[in-house]
Amino acid sequence: MERELALEIGRVTEVAAIASAEWMGLGKKMEADQAATTAMRHMFDTMALDGTVVIGEGEMDEAPMLYIGEKLGDGNGPHLDIAVDPLEGTNILVNGSFNALSVLAVAPAGTLLHAPDIYMQKLAVGSRARGKVDIDQPIKENVLAVAKALGKNTIDVVVAVLDRERHANLIQEIRSTGARIKLLSDGDVAAAINTGFDDTGVDMMVGIGGAPEGVLSAAALKCVKGDFQARLLPENEEQMKRCLQMGITDPSKVLYMEDLVAGDDVIFSATGVTDGELLRGVRFLSENKVTTHSIIMRGKTGTIRFITARHDRSKKRP
Ligand code: FBP
Repeated sequence: MERELALEIGRVTEVAAIASAEWMGLGKKMEADQAATTAMRHMFDTMALDGTVVIGEGEMDEAPMLYIGEKLGDGNGPHLDIAVDPLEGTNILVNGSFNALSVLAVAPAGTLLHAPDIYMQKLAVGSRARGKVDIDQPIKENVLAVAKALGKNTIDVVVAVLDRERHANLIQEIRSTGARIKLLSDGDVAAAINTGFDDTGVDMMVGIGGAPEGVLSAAALKCVKGDFQARLLPENEEQMKRCLQMGITDPSKVLYMEDLVAGDDVIFSATGVTDGELLRGVRFLSENKVTTHSIIMRGKTGTIRFITARHDRSKKRP
């Protein structure tokens, strides 16, 4: 993929973040999600690429835009797989809380896992713990491995986990290792990305969350040479069928980084919608100015850009 695409991709998450941030704290999930999706979709219309949504807002019959299989771009550029979550953490945004993001990953066609919208068991760590953890090992082993890899005492390791009833045992087991925990109301993509950056204070993310979010997290961690391991968790016949339709013949097998994002040619962009450990959220300033804070990464070169942009809405809106 051409490197110029990275900046274009950044513009896409910027507009989606701004559109959704307008709904912060208003309690209107549908409207917030729709605003982000519409903004993202329109930005894609201006781009020279031949993309297909592989991770999107849902199936064709349930999502009007950015549905799985939808074609994006003007059809003239590179053939790409596109994974989007225009508003990751809808509940976070409508409550005005932390770590809502607009996220997007692009990669050559056929290199991103086509994951159905079902649950996935996940384990995410940054580069120093890559190759030292194993999703099939007890959590205690993994926490100790991360502590060793980072040269930390176990008590200084922070593990992020979604605050869900299904994680009651997992949380107890993590606590029994002596490690500390960051309980997430929502938003395991931000937590997974955070493991790739020391100063976020998050060393590891574990637990069960959405499979589409898992592919996006893997794309981000691929760019920073982190690790992401996963296992799909189909809960019924229907979900099993969906896995098969998407080409996943053995849904119970562990998915490693290469299964989720094959090769290094991946570009990832996230723009903060609300404030988080890594990215600041959208700020609406006086005189129609807006600032956004994004991270744009290229797996091929390992370049990581933090971009603070100041937008003038008086020039962009009718
Ligand atoms: P949405 O933005 O689609 O609401 O996803 C938020 C999220 O918290 C993800 O980060 C996470 O993977 C998933 O939902 C967890 O699902 P559940 O809320 O069902 O536990």
